[in-house]
Amino acid sequence: MTASSAPLVDPYGRRVKDLRISVTDRCNFRCTYCMPEEGMKWLPRNEVLTYEELARVATLCVDRFGFEAIRITGGEPTIRSHLSRLVEMLSRLDVDLAMTTNGVKLPELAHDLAAAGLRRVNISLDSLRRDVFHRLTRRDDLHRVLAGVDAALDAGLTPVKVNCVVMRGVNDDEVVDLAAFGRDKGVGMRFIEFMPLDGDDSWSMADVVPAQEILDRIDAVFPLVRGTGGEVAGGAEPADTYRYADGAGDVGVIASVTQPFCGDCDRVRLTAEGRFRTCLFALDEHDLRPVLRGGLAAGELDDALAAAIEAAVGTKWAGHSIGRVEFVRPPRSMSQIGG
Ligand code: 5AD
Ligand code: SF4
Repeated sequence: MTASSAPLVDPYGRRVKDLRISVTDRCNFRCTYCMPEEGMKWLPRNEVLTYEELARVATLCVDRFGFEAIRITGGEPTIRSHLSRLVEMLSRLDVDLAMTTNGVKLPELAHDLAAAGLRRVNISLDSLRRDVFHRLTRRDDLHRVLAGVDAALDAGLTPVKVNCVVMRGVNDDEVVDLAAFGRDKGVGMRFIEFMPLDGDDSWSMADVVPAQEILDRIDAVFPLVRGTGGEVAGGAEPADTYRYADGAGDVGVIASVTQPFCGDCDRVRLTAEGRFRTCLFALDEHDLRPVLRGGLAAGELDDALAAAIEAAVGTKWAGHSIGRVEFVRPPRSMSQIGG
């Protein structure tokens, strides 16, 4: 926080300080848990915010409201051209600047992104078996994603974390192998409970492997430090993170479904077309694009944006209700919201 910034606090007293920016709704993969195989309607290019527009919102969030973290997401962020130009613009802000990516383009891009000021990446990797990876992402690119993990490490985009969405009967038998992979590579695995944001709307509670079960399976092979002292303080990081007893790094679980962490939520999201969202599962959105493109002078524009953001945060709810009867799935899938 600088002297001139004032914290943004939601109606439940949570300070909002983490902005997720989706730079594109498009993706070069079609992960089943995120998109349908065909029939995605992409945003027309002129509806996608420019880097200048994205940076303007990000800068305002940092300067006015003291945001501390910015994460670049998608779709797949690395398929937007000249992404390092945006990274360079955002790197001038005093924040933890990270990106979530499927990793497939990191062999080409990791060094440029690091040089532009990106600090670290989360890479999605849900299977180490070529056939399962192919079925899940609908692309035969496991080798390239593995090369992407190496490229991120080599470029110093550390600590590298690897996200794995665990789905029962699909990849849950690989949890221990993936944990071993994380230990060998020196990357922190983050196992995520499957959430109802899939493209085909076929999610069911039976597909979810509870985080507790994931931890138990890992602990049986690679003992974890559990109970007091074992948990690594993560602040508002959604992952519950545990150290391995033998010192070989840490592993986290994100129990979005079975133990929602909404109570500590400090996040808001900006979609590629400029809609401000206060929750992954929010049903309403606050369109910043008309404000950004309304022809206001710089100072007035910032005031108008700040007012729109404050109003939006005023609608942030206490939390989602996945698994309960009153749950209503948002009309967007994950790729359209931005992880
Ligand atoms: N459930 C849980 N996590 C998801 N992700 C995408 N879709 C889902 C879902 N339905 C995560 C992936 C990816 C990040 C962008 O969001 O792990 O790493
Ligand atoms: Fe693409 Fe990421 Fe969605 Fe997979 S999860 S389809 S990599 S946006």
